[in-house]
This record gives sequence, structure tokens and C-alpha cells, in this order.
Amino acid sequence: MAPKLLITRKLPPDVLARAARTYDVEYNTDDSLWDNAQLAARAVGKDALLATVTDRLGAEAIERLPQSVRIIASFSVGTDHIDVEAARLRGIAVTNTPDVLTDATAEIALLLILGAARGAAAGMASIREGTWANWAPTGMLGISLTGKRLGILGMGRIGRATARRARAFSMEIHYHNRRRVEADEGATWHESFDGLLRVSDILSVHCASTPETRKLIDARALALLPRGAIVVNTARGDIIDDDALIAALQIGQVAAAGLDVFNNEPNIDPRYRTQANAFLLPHLGSATLETRNAMGFRALDNLDDFFAGREPRDRVG
Ligand code: DGY
Repeated sequence: MAPKLLITRKLPPDVLARAARTYDVEYNTDDSLWDNAQLAARAVGKDALLATVTDRLGAEAIERLPQSVRIIASFSVGTDHIDVEAARLRGIAVTNTPDVLTDATAEIALLLILGAARGAAAGMASIREGTWANWAPTGMLGISLTGKRLGILGMGRIGRATARRARAFSMEIHYHNRRRVEADEGATWHESFDGLLRVSDILSVHCASTPETRKLIDARALALLPRGAIVVNTARGDIIDDDALIAALQIGQVAAAGLDVFNNEPNIDPRYRTQANAFLLPHLGSATLETRNAMGFRALDNLDDFFAGREPRDRVG
């Protein structure tokens, strides 16, 4: 008998086709978001869930899952939407999808760096709104990347891929990680977070969201950046204190921000919308068909391993 799999969101056709070859699949036909009660009801009789970052699988949601569920394969590298410990206590395995979205996310980090540094949001608005009067020698001046210091907070896979790409823009790379990284792309390690902040003309956030990193980028941290720095985030919105960042953008302590992730997505802090020096994207880090296929296949690889009695390669809990 094929294991029964609940897929909580609409996934790319090739991923669904592969899932259907191995599993007895129930799909989310209208791609709506399910609350805990709906998820628990859909999961009745299922052996596995293939879930995404929009499934808020906290302790209560995990608690409500039926006994039949033995594994949650997340279609994401981040697992902050899952209470992995609560799952462990229920005997539910958890996997994620690292590696396959590294390059796509690093590409978005570079897009944010460029977009923020060159005032792309304000420039595009002037075209769309018809307010672009003429080319002006002193108009819409951005910040050059050449020779600037890029501070990478979290030198994991995506941090390193971002560093490699930033080198092509002749940037000087610095990073902070708990430990020095061996393959650090020749970047300068800062043992302390504050040390990194002090040299970061552009700060790019790549650490995981954990209780320790929540609101790590607060008013104190932003004040340590060189005046007129740029802040970029492709990791998780909750690493940034929105009140502090918006205040810093308003007074020019931070010249511009490039954000792909937000607190309370998609209901972001409305003040960002009117902040001309904020270049904003709607969580597009992994949003290419190639990458979303690869994420789906990786999640299915993990399920295949699990149901074949092997240890899934991306087991996180
Ligand atoms: C992840 O995989 O954690 C991303 O945020 C989804 O793109």
C-alpha cells in the first residue's frame, strides 16, 4: 500500500506528478491556507505531510495532528515555522530542503543589494507615476558597490554564495558566525557581531531565525553600522526589529534597505510601503521554477528515504 501523503499547497506540476507515482496523495486543490483545525482534519489517516513555510506548525498544530502522521517533509530550508521539538515528542520526523535554493536566494540577495544601493524603488516609482522630469547630474544618486564592505551575518550556504557573487562587484567581504568558516571565500571573520556591524557598509542577513536571533537587528545594532549603511534581508523577517529599521531609514542612519522577508507576511508593516529608500520583494528568494522543482524533489527524496526505512538525508528532527 502506498503511504498516504497530504500536500498542503499547490506545488509545481512535475513535483505533483512524481509524488503521485509513489504516494496516495491528497492535494490542496484551491491553494488556500489551512488553519490548525483544517490541517488536522485533512491529515486524518495520512502518514506524511509535505508542508511549506505558510503552514504554521507550532506546538498546538502539531498536538492536533492525528497519530497516523509520522513525518513532516518541509518544502523549505528554514524550519522556524515548525516546532521541531513538539514534533519529536510526538514521534514525528521533520525534514527540510537545504542546498537546492542556495543559488536562487543568493541571486535575490544581490538583487536587493543592487536595488537598495541604486535607489531602484524610487527610480521605478518615478517612471510608473510619471514624475521623472529629466536626467539630472545630481538626481537620484545611489551608492556604488565597488570597494564597499559587505558584512554577511551568517556564513552558511547562502551567505557564502552571496559572498562569491559580491566579489564580482569588487566588494570586500566580512562576516560574523559563531565559528570561523573554513571555506569562507577569503572573507574576514569577525568574532563579535558588533565587530561586523562596525565595518558593514552593507549588511546582508543570512542567519536562521531562532530565539537568539529574533530582533537581533535592533536600534542598538543599527546604530553601530557606519552612517548611511544599507541593510538587506533574505533570511527571515523576525530577525529585524521593524520599528528600529524604519526609524533608521527615516533619519538616514540606514540609507536604504532591501527586504525579501518580513514580520507577519504578507501583512507587512505598512510604513515600509511609503519608505522610498526601501526596495521590497514578496519573499521571492527561492521563486524560480527550477528551484521550486528541486525543493519539491528534495522533499520527496526525504519521504522516499523515510518510507524505505532509511535515514532521510535532511532530517532536522
Ligand atoms: C525557505 O525555504 O526557508 C524559504 O524561505 C522559502 O523560499
